[in-house]
Amino acid sequence: MNAEEASGLGDRAEAMIDALAAASDDPGRLTRLYLTPAHRRAADMVAGWMAEAGLAVRMDAAATVHGFLPAGIEGPRAGKRLLIGSHIDTVVDAGRYDGNFGVVAGILAVEALRSRGIALPFGIEVLAFGDEEGVRFPKTLISSSTIAGALDETVLDMMDADETTVRQALVAFGCDPAALPREAYRRADVVGYLEVHIEQGPVLDRTNEPLAVVSAIASQGRYHVRIRGDAGHAGTVPMAVRHDALAAAAEVIAMIEEIALKGARASLVATVGAITVRPGAVNVIPGAAEMSLDVRAADDAGRDAAVAEIRNRVRQIGARRGVVVGIETVHEKPVAVAAQRLTRALATAIRTVTGAEPRALMSGAGHDGQAMIHLTDIGMMFVRCRAGISHNPVESVSVEDMGLAVEALVRTIVALAGEGAVS
Ligand code: GLV
Ligand code: MN
Ligand code: MN
Repeated sequence: MNAEEASGLGDRAEAMIDALAAASDDPGRLTRLYLTPAHRRAADMVAGWMAEAGLAVRMDAAATVHGFLPAGIEGPRAGKRLLIGSHIDTVVDAGRYDGNFGVVAGILAVEALRSRGIALPFGIEVLAFGDEEGVRFPKTLISSSTIAGALDETVLDMMDADETTVRQALVAFGCDPAALPREAYRRADVVGYLEVHIEQGPVLDRTNEPLAVVSAIASQGRYHVRIRGDAGHAGTVPMAVRHDALAAAAEVIAMIEEIALKGARASLVATVGAITVRPGAVNVIPGAAEMSLDVRAADDAGRDAAVAEIRNRVRQIGARRGVVVGIETVHEKPVAVAAQRLTRALATAIRTVTGAEPRALMSGAGHDGQAMIHLTDIGMMFVRCRAGISHNPVESVSVEDMGLAVEALVRTIVALAGEGAVS
């Protein structure tokens, strides 16, 4: 592939990313949560591009857009499909590449295979998942878990901030929750799952490398912390007898940061990203506080130990301050290790495209592969993003790097086809 071809693919990717970035539910910034009007607009756009690329398009019961290209060659693998996916939901005030580039890369790779006349011995399916960020509802990976046959159906009764359940949101989106179990794929029908994703960290930018392979996705847990104290008059209740829920929450947050800092060498990270306080008035002592907690580590034991220590210290803080505390587990995923056969194919393809041996990186970010691993082998490619910034509107990926990533994906697919591919 010459530089012109790569930048052609990169230019196409950038134009599609720009178009998707216009699908937002917040004026002036990108916010596209699961099953919202912006999700519908993005899904329609993706479906249109898939159809133009010659794929058979459908939306499933979890609102994932599927674009399928059947095998081009008869043979033992003709009934199987290679899955290539990522997500089109975003965080609040998001960057435009997280997830979206992986979907665009899948569509462009299939388009390139077809335009180069490469016939494959297995089908290819591009998947645009709707719920990788898990920002609207407490649980995450609903769409990929559905395909992987790993959906915990209690999620259907979980509510967003407006008290709309997942079930109600699916129905309003035109999806049939009763059909969710039928969407699960069978392991025997799948070749593997590949995902291209921006790195969302600083390594590739620092080392001046465009692409990397992912060795594994970190162990991750989400928890909901509730603190109940006593609301009271801000002017009359003496400090010594207060049971201030927000003051307790502040101590809990500082304690969580202390534990994470202590474990930083083992890649432990812990984040309180959202907090609500009731009743929330200037002259009322806070009676209740609720907050999110996200804990990740390079290994499951490290995460488990950190969460156990947090639970213990939260109990101590509650007892000392006379407030009632509870920590509910919302979502836990163990480390998801990439399959060597896919990692090798990705590494060979990257080496061919960039001329250099790619490094292997652990992903601290969560990905749909954490659900897809219940179904099949997973393999991921990372693409450099500027200064490693993500979950932020300044997130940026160069056109050249996107072109290289799409080309490397095309070559990975051809490598997995092996002897069976015909051009
Ligand atoms: C999603 O990007 C996550 O890692 O939580
Ligand atoms: Mn993502
Ligand atoms: Mn993200």
